[in-house]
Amino acid sequence: MSAWLSRKVSSLNLQELNEFDGSQEQKQALKELGKEFEITTEKLRSIVKQFTFEMQKGLERHGAKVAMIPSFVTGKPTGMESGTYLAIDLGGTNLRVCKVDLLGNGKVEIQQQKYIVPEAMKTGEMRQLCDFIADSVDMFLTEIDTDSYSEALQLGFTFSFPVNLRTINRGNLMQWTKGYCCTGAIGKDPGLMLQDSFRRKNMKVNVAAIVNDTVGTLMAHAYRDPTTFMGIIFGTGTNAAYFEKMDNITKWEDDITSEEMVVNMEWGAFDEERRVLPMTIYDNRLDRESINPGTHIYEKMISGMYLGEIVRNMTLGLVDRQLLFDGKSSPEMNKKWSFETSHMSAIEIDTSSDLADTQYVLETVLGIPSTTLMDREMVKTLCRLVGIRAARLSAAGVAAVMTHCNLLPQDACTAAVDGSVFEFYPHFSHNMMKALKELFGEEVEQKIKFSQSHDGSGLGAAVIAMQVSKGN
Ligand code: BGC
Repeated sequence: MSAWLSRKVSSLNLQELNEFDGSQEQKQALKELGKEFEITTEKLRSIVKQFTFEMQKGLERHGAKVAMIPSFVTGKPTGMESGTYLAIDLGGTNLRVCKVDLLGNGKVEIQQQKYIVPEAMKTGEMRQLCDFIADSVDMFLTEIDTDSYSEALQLGFTFSFPVNLRTINRGNLMQWTKGYCCTGAIGKDPGLMLQDSFRRKNMKVNVAAIVNDTVGTLMAHAYRDPTTFMGIIFGTGTNAAYFEKMDNITKWEDDITSEEMVVNMEWGAFDEERRVLPMTIYDNRLDRESINPGTHIYEKMISGMYLGEIVRNMTLGLVDRQLLFDGKSSPEMNKKWSFETSHMSAIEIDTSSDLADTQYVLETVLGIPSTTLMDREMVKTLCRLVGIRAARLSAAGVAAVMTHCNLLPQDACTAAVDGSVFEFYPHFSHNMMKALKELFGEEVEQKIKFSQSHDGSGLGAAVIAMQVSKGN
């Protein structure tokens, strides 16, 4: 393995690319890509500035790009909550159905089942999708032997898409993201449509709350740790929610007694006007071919649904210039979305001298006829460029919330984080913290703790359903 690759893989600078021992053309191509994907500290600062500006706009008026949606969740849980609630989570590959027993003292028991959402359901009719959810809940209740119950079961519906809420359990879907695009849903109320499916099946289940996964993640963590101020998802998609002072949500028109409310930022839509995000031709191509072109571009530079596709676009660019794989691609590599973000993770953690795992991904999984060590090193570099950029852009979102809430002078706080990119992508959290240190200094590490949280959509949605049904 070249000295160049044996370096610790948590950071990459343009200087390193000079030491890469490929041909002049290969070197030049990698240097150009390195430049395009670089987010300097100065660039980070300008992104954070624009981010706080857009947050402010979203708090002031309806219809802003970063929508800053009031969640109607006001109270922090105390951990003493009790009772039995249902929760479902729709937003990725699976539908998760849970029965949550809140036992007080921060204790909880969860029974859950996952159901694969068939691809056709994600792009079919919304009414069918809701019927599928109701059937799955019915099946689950039978499986756990809770199919006869006298009072309506209260359900927290984690629906991880942008919903403009009018009340805690009523709102309108603003747009689809993450590969979903059911018909008959945009502008409609997902809570009401699901309630209708329960009614048609004579199920006594009440949709008590529509919950974004970020809000659920925040509340689930806060049930155990009151210093939690933010819930973040770095997974198939990305987004964040945090506690905001009611006085700052100036677009809020109703009376309310509480001082704070959780705001679902919908930060994936940041910079749709393309003022600061350094989009490359590879990002533009991905965006154009996505189900929601022109929207959620920040999400498309950060999250698991998209990172592999950016690398695929870059790889094909180098193949076309005869700089990779001897100019040959494969039918699999030519297929959209075939380069999954999990392949990038496998490549990034591959430190073997012959990059054997990388070879496996490229040749066996993606069908490239043969690869040289140089080819593998180049693809690994592409993955690193895209992975590091994602972590640094993610840090910009966190930094914007920290700046807006003036958190640095305050006590240490916790951000609850869920999602496959945060959990599994090599060096992601390290690179994110590195960027935060560049922005705020070394001491930021003592100010914000990122805590992996798994049960947001279950526990969090149940806690919220409980708060609603007890009128908190
Ligand atoms: C959705 C958000 C969600 C995020 C993470 C985005 O695509 O717009 O509502 O929180 O994905 O699941």
